[in-house]
Amino acid sequence: MTTDSNHTPTAGQSAHAEIRKLERDYVMHSWCVQSQYQAPVVVGGEGATFWDMDGQRYLDFSSQAMCNNLGHQHPKVVAAIREQASQLCFIQGSWGSIPRARLAQKLAQVTPPNLVKTFFTNGGAEANENALKIARWFTGRNKIITRYRSYHGASAGAMTLSGDPRRWAAEPGIPGVVRALDAYCYRCSFGLEYPSCGLRCAEHIDELIHLEGPDKVAAVLVEPIVGSNGIIVPPDGYMQRLREICTANNVLLICDEVMTGFGRTGKWFASQHWDVEPDILVTAKGLTSATVPLGAVVISNEIASFFNDRTLFAGLTYLGHPLACAAGLAAVEAYEEEGLIGRSQALGERMLGRLREMQQHHPSIGEVRGKGLFAAIELVKDRATRAPLAPFNGSSPAIARIVAEGRKRGVSFAARWNFFILAPPLVITEDELDQALDLLDELLIYADEETTR
Ligand SMILES: Cc1ncc(COP(=O)(O)O)c(C=O)c1O
Repeated sequence: MTTDSNHTPTAGQSAHAEIRKLERDYVMHSWCVQSQYQAPVVVGGEGATFWDMDGQRYLDFSSQAMCNNLGHQHPKVVAAIREQASQLCFIQGSWGSIPRARLAQKLAQVTPPNLVKTFFTNGGAEANENALKIARWFTGRNKIITRYRSYHGASAGAMTLSGDPRRWAAEPGIPGVVRALDAYCYRCSFGLEYPSCGLRCAEHIDELIHLEGPDKVAAVLVEPIVGSNGIIVPPDGYMQRLREICTANNVLLICDEVMTGFGRTGKWFASQHWDVEPDILVTAKGLTSATVPLGAVVISNEIASFFNDRTLFAGLTYLGHPLACAAGLAAVEAYEEEGLIGRSQALGERMLGRLREMQQHHPSIGEVRGKGLFAAIELVKDRATRAPLAPFNGSSPAIARIVAEGRKRGVSFAARWNFFILAPPLVITEDELDQALDLLDELLIYADEETTR
């Protein structure tokens, strides 16, 4: 910390100290023990970089919560918000609005072809809550199958739909949720190998539907590529087989593309990697590049028609908020105009290539996986046994050190349990990408030291 010659804090430093104190004294912080909260106060950003009150700059290697796909302060989106604010900040959802109508049309164009109409929400959890209600009304059934390694949001229902340990504190949660095992080849729950496994993990969901009663199951809900539980890419054929199983049993397929949407994986939506058409697609985050909160439930023509002569018992004060929809429309146009979906694919290949090179000389890297600018390295103590470097739902000193050193040296890395999620904004430059990966390469030595080699 710089001080004046008498070592008295400057006016600027006192103001910074005051904001840090207000954060600690008045704000409840998410997912942490309150007394352990300590984070820099961020005051600005541009492109793939943001900076804090003390002037420290960070290359954003996780797009915050995998949501700032256009980077920080994208000029087109900021201008659209300004323009909309000057005309109409808010109108209740029962009125029509220009940005909402235009954005809904745009979503019908960029999502899989069978999806036609959108119900807007304020974020991902609410979108999943509404997808669940819609699936139950449409099918007249109550059960929903989700998977253990999944996250669908932190509201009461969405937390139950999630499978990861974040749900434990919120249990018992809502009734009707049945969890399946995952399509996680590196740690196959069935002890099998792809492709000789015959996609046992998909057949397991078929079995669950039959055990639960096909006439009781409304939907199967999956992240097509699992996000915050480890960027788990399913084997080719898995999503297609899930589609077939759902269709054969008259069960809806809901794809949660809150994190995987809007170019993150090198396609508009991850389900498009396998040409799968879900009955309901849930999205948020990259929809506005996180500039204004917005979520969307995009539904098939069949489901939309069901509500032609029935009341849709759903609504939120801020649904389809004009500022959010204006931001969403500008964001989708920016993805199109700047060719960012293809850029994610190209830069993603570059990133995965670099990570695979690193795997050659870092014994701690057990697996490299991903699609587009959405990748993970899974760290292990021992490649032969695949013993994780940090326990499930735990952490390791080396991983904490890499995150802390990265931050000090100007790159913000996201780690969870024994993996790093590497998901920079799609506008990151090649130099910035290389710079962050060079640093990661250097810091992984700490993880190597925790291996048994
Ligand atoms: C796949 C997925 N679904 C839903 C959510 C919840 O979204 P939100 O935090 O906007 O409620 C998240 C958030 O990380 C997510 O990754």
